[in-house]
Amino acid sequence: MFDGACALYSRCNGPDFLGGIRAVRCDPVKPSNLSSYLQASGWKTGHGSIAMKRLGSNEPEGRVGKLKQVDHSVEKSPVPVLDLTRLPNDLTNSIKFSPVAPQEMVNVATLRSTSEPWRGRSETPDQSLQALTALQPYVHVSKLQNHVIGYVTVERDGPVAGAAYMRHIVIKPELQRKGIGTLLLAHAMQVARDLHRKTLALRVDPANAAAVSFYRKAGFTTVATVVSKKSGKLRLLMSREL
Ligand SMILES: CC(C)(COP(=O)(O)OP(=O)(O)OC[C@H]1O[C@@H](n2cnc3c(N)ncnc32)[C@H](O)[C@@H]1OP(=O)(O)O)[C@@H](O)C(=O)NCCC(=O)NCCS
Repeated sequence: MFDGACALYSRCNGPDFLGGIRAVRCDPVKPSNLSSYLQASGWKTGHGSIAMKRLGSNEPEGRVGKLKQVDHSVEKSPVPVLDLTRLPNDLTNSIKFSPVAPQEMVNVATLRSTSEPWRGRSETPDQSLQALTALQPYVHVSKLQNHVIGYVTVERDGPVAGAAYMRHIVIKPELQRKGIGTLLLAHAMQVARDLHRKTLALRVDPANAAAVSFYRKAGFTTVATVVSKKSGKLRLLMSREL
């Protein structure tokens, strides 16, 4: 065994219960997040309370849920390709929205790590997945041709008392400026209404001009400037009525 395997190990009752899989490294994952973390990493719940059967995964070697003695005969699913040449002018009826499915979390993480501002911070897909796993209950995706092309998070509570909180909204870079962000935001506002909230709040980096412009056009106004606990940087606190 190697360092960090203890949390999972103690919940699994032993490392040898599924043949080829002998240990999972899970040191960055809280035990309480383990199940969704593993599902998001391409594992299937199937043995006691812990996921242990690997499904096809596009993840590169060495990322989350790293294995020892994995069964390499498991087939990898092909990377899906989104056909951008067949896009209708009006995307309104082509975009579908839903709460994220566990198997889509890897796609959402890839989307985040390839989008600004996370791309500029060199956040890896691995780090994105870890951050998003904690937010999974609040993640909703937008899909085009059955591909995840955007996501948003909506929490019932946030920095403004009584207001729902939108922590992230992201559209696949090559599909930005086509109105999809506006459609996804409309969906997020409906999710917030369904949570019986009358206001939606968010924080944004004032240097993220695209996002600030997007939020302003969508009717958000700045209600305060706050300092991010994480980065120590200034953030605009914006909100709008629902
Ligand atoms: C912010 C974001 C979600 C907007 O999504 P989008 O699909 O491009 O937005 P829309 O096409 O619906 O744009 C609606 C309006 O927002 C404004 N807007 C959007 N992108 C803009 C940009 N790059 N520069 C200036 N204004 C912009 C425009 O007013 C636009 O209307 P217009 O195209 O008619 O001028 C997208 O840029 C994104 O994913 N950015 C990276 C992640 C991010 O920074 N998210 C916000 C913080 S978590």
